[in-house]
Amino acid sequence: MTRDLVTVIGGSGFIGRYVVRLLAKQKHRIRVAVRHPNEALFLKPMGDVGQVQLLPTNIRNAASVARAVDGADAVVNLVGILQPSGHEDFQSVHVNGAEAVAKAAAAAGVRRLVQLSAIGADRNAESAYASSKGEGEIAVRAAFPAATILRPSIVFGDEDGFFNRFARLACIPRLPLPLIGGGKTRFQPVYVCDVAEAVARAATQDAFAGQTFELGGPKVYSFREILELVLAEIRRDKMMLPVPFFAAKIGAFFTGILPNAPLTMDQVELLKHDNVVSPDARTLRDLGIDPTPAESIVGTYLERYRKQGQFSKPVEAA
Ligand SMILES: NC(=O)c1ccc[n+]([C@@H]2O[C@H](COP(=O)([O-])OP(=O)(O)OC[C@H]3O[C@@H](n4cnc5c(N)ncnc54)[C@H](OP(=O)(O)O)[C@@H]3O)[C@@H](O)[C@H]2O)c1
Repeated sequence: MTRDLVTVIGGSGFIGRYVVRLLAKQKHRIRVAVRHPNEALFLKPMGDVGQVQLLPTNIRNAASVARAVDGADAVVNLVGILQPSGHEDFQSVHVNGAEAVAKAAAAAGVRRLVQLSAIGADRNAESAYASSKGEGEIAVRAAFPAATILRPSIVFGDEDGFFNRFARLACIPRLPLPLIGGGKTRFQPVYVCDVAEAVARAATQDAFAGQTFELGGPKVYSFREILELVLAEIRRDKMMLPVPFFAAKIGAFFTGILPNAPLTMDQVELLKHDNVVSPDARTLRDLGIDPTPAESIVGTYLERYRKQGQFSKPVEAA
C-alpha cells in the first residue's frame, strides 16, 4: 500500500483529531492546516517523528490554502462553525472557504477531496447554518466534481458539543432541562470514530469519488430520548420543561450574542427539522462501516458528570 500525503484542514477540532490519529495509525503523512498551529501541537505525538506536520492556514486566505494543498494526494476540509464570530461567518467559512479549498485542490492536481457538510444541508433551508452548508456543497461540486461529501447527523464522542452540553446543564441545581419544541425533533447520533473512519476511507480510496454520504448511528432518538439517555448515564434525576420554539427563539435572542452561546436563534431554527439519514441516502454501511450505538459509548465520557463519578449508582438504585 502506498502512503499518501493527506492535508487535513481543521484537523485540531473535535472530529479532526480522530481523523489525524487514524490516518497516522495507517502510516499516512499528514499535514494539519489550522489557524493556530501552536494550539494543535497535541496532534504531533499521534504519529512518528515528522509524520504529522502543522501549517498555519486560514481558509479565508487563498494563498495559505494553496500552500496547504500543494503536493497533497488528498485534502480533507473539516472547517465549520456553529455561530458567526469575529471575521468568521457562515458565508465566508461554509461557502467561500469550502469553494476556495476545492478550487485550490483542483488547481494543484489533488486526487481526492473530502468535504464535511451536515445532514439538512440545503441552500433553501431557513437556518443560515444549513443553507450555507448547502451552498458550500454546490460550490465544492462545481470546482471539484470528484469530491466526496460527508453529511453527519450530530456526532458523539469524548469532546462532543451536544451530549456534554446537556450533561453540564443537568448539573446546574434547580434548572430544568429545556425540551425545545416539545422534544419531538429526531436525531441519529453518529460516533466520532465512525465519522473519522468514513473520512479516512474517502480520503485514501478512489471508490467513493463524486458521491455524497449521510452518516448516522444505528438508532434514531427524539430530542427527549437523548436527554433521557444523558440523565440515565449521569445518574441524575431532572425535570424536563417543554419550551415552544417561539419561546426558545426569544431566549436565544439574548443568549445568542454571547461567545460560545448556549443556544442561538439559528440553532432553534435547525431544531425544527429532523436530523436523520434520508431513506434513499448512501450511508456508513455503503462505506463498509458498521455504526456504533450511542449506548455503548456515551457512558464512558459522561461518567464525569455523575455525583460520585464512577462510583455513582443508577438513579432508581440510589
Ligand atoms: N460536531 C458535530 O456534531 C458535527 C455534525 C455535523 C457536521 N459537522 C461538521 O464537521 C466539521 C468538523 O466539525 P468539528 O465539530 O470537528 O468542528 P470544530 O471542533 O469546531 O473544529 C473546527 C476546526 O477548524 C479550524 N478552523 C476554524 N476556522 C478556520 C479557518 N478559517 N481556517 C482554517 N481552519 C479553521 C479550527 O482550528 P483553529 O481554530 O486553530 O483554526 C478547528 O481545527 C464541520 O464542518 C462541521 O460543520 C460537525
